[in-house]
Amino acid sequence: MSVPSQDLVYVYYHGTKDKQFMGRLLLKNRQIFFEYDAAFIKTGLKLSPFKLPLKAGVIPSTDRTFEGLFGVFNDSLPDGWGRLLLDRKLMGLGVNPGALSPLDRLCFVGGHGMGALSYEPENPNFAANLPTDLDEIYHEIQATLDENDTYVDELLILGGSSAGARPKALLRIDNVDWLIKFRASFDSKDIGSIEYAYHFMAKEAGLHVPEAKLFPSRKGLGFFGVKRFDRKDNKKVHMHTVAGLLHADHREPSLDYETIMKATLYLTRDVRECEVQFRNAVFNVLSHNRDDHSKNFSFLMDANGTWSVSPAYDLTFSSGPAGEHSTMIMGEGKNPTKGHLLKLASVGNIKQDKALEIIDQVRSATQKWHEFAAKAGVSKLQTKNIGEVLNAINKNIAI
Ligand SMILES: Nc1ncnc2c1ncn2[C@@H]1O[C@H](COP(=O)(O)OP(=O)(O)O)[C@@H](O)[C@H]1O
Ligand SMILES: [Mg+2]
Repeated sequence: MSVPSQDLVYVYYHGTKDKQFMGRLLLKNRQIFFEYDAAFIKTGLKLSPFKLPLKAGVIPSTDRTFEGLFGVFNDSLPDGWGRLLLDRKLMGLGVNPGALSPLDRLCFVGGHGMGALSYEPENPNFAANLPTDLDEIYHEIQATLDENDTYVDELLILGGSSAGARPKALLRIDNVDWLIKFRASFDSKDIGSIEYAYHFMAKEAGLHVPEAKLFPSRKGLGFFGVKRFDRKDNKKVHMHTVAGLLHADHREPSLDYETIMKATLYLTRDVRECEVQFRNAVFNVLSHNRDDHSKNFSFLMDANGTWSVSPAYDLTFSSGPAGEHSTMIMGEGKNPTKGHLLKLASVGNIKQDKALEIIDQVRSATQKWHEFAAKAGVSKLQTKNIGEVLNAINKNIAI
């Protein structure tokens, strides 16, 4: 098979009407350009205000963060698991995935991307018999991770357009769209239960979290799944990660919560949204969720162009580079204190009383870790280990 190399891609936005032409992407002499359609400019919808301002004319991409692709489109591309699947499929067909440009990859995403954008011309799906049983999907994922590519077509259709490191499936069950996360071979056995326990803890701490479930498995503890927030009443919702909005590569830990807070203030112009973001930050600190990189924060834009902080996701016990937070808290990644958090609150114009109240609420939720761990079926060993780390942070933050 040969993949035609695509130097012109048409982009559509589905967040207001069913399908609205947004503009054209062009690849020329290794540089990427975008031009908004004149009718789209009239809508006034600013889908990516920092790096792709809504204006007439051809806009050249000036930085190489995402191989020269604008962040708003890079957000549609799978990384980690989804990218691995496509690359393996193409290699099986004798195509060198290294020769694909970001525009070629967008054509594989076509109309199946997360969020509210779609791309044409779309490469046809690889026909497959889709499994519906989660244990079967899990089995196929494990086989694929073991470099047996028998099921790669099925898995590409099920979760190939999702982002993030862990294997995933995007499934519609009883009319609800779910994102279900599976275990990679190197993940701990109760990774799903731990994320589920964190879900309970985050909810108790007052975070906005999507509905979540542990989907039962015949063999293990179950698979963690969340209701998709980029779908609402069967419509697509525009979603933009901090990585894409600011061209902040999630593999390079150079971000600070200060920048996320400023972006929140700029986009939403609403101190309540800053409080939501602040609560997410406090939770990540107090729950040792240190893989808090730029792709683990997103904003949603509604049909009128109003931005809000997306529900929080990927909340689990984790470590960032050298054990520190991937995103620093006012310059501190290793031992952030209450002082750092209060400074962060002031960046978002949050009153100190309110900030202290949020810290207290999150703190009392994380102190109930054992209760949530038991409810989610976390192993004794992990319950104890995580409990000890959370206790230590709790003591530190009280100062
Ligand atoms: N409930 C959700 N609805 C829509 N998109 C989501 C949801 N949860 C996560 N995502 C998107 O999917 C990506 C991968 O999910 P995440 O939980 O971060 O997985 P991983 O552990 O593999 O990083 C996220 O970066 C985010 O863009
Ligand atoms: Mg993630």
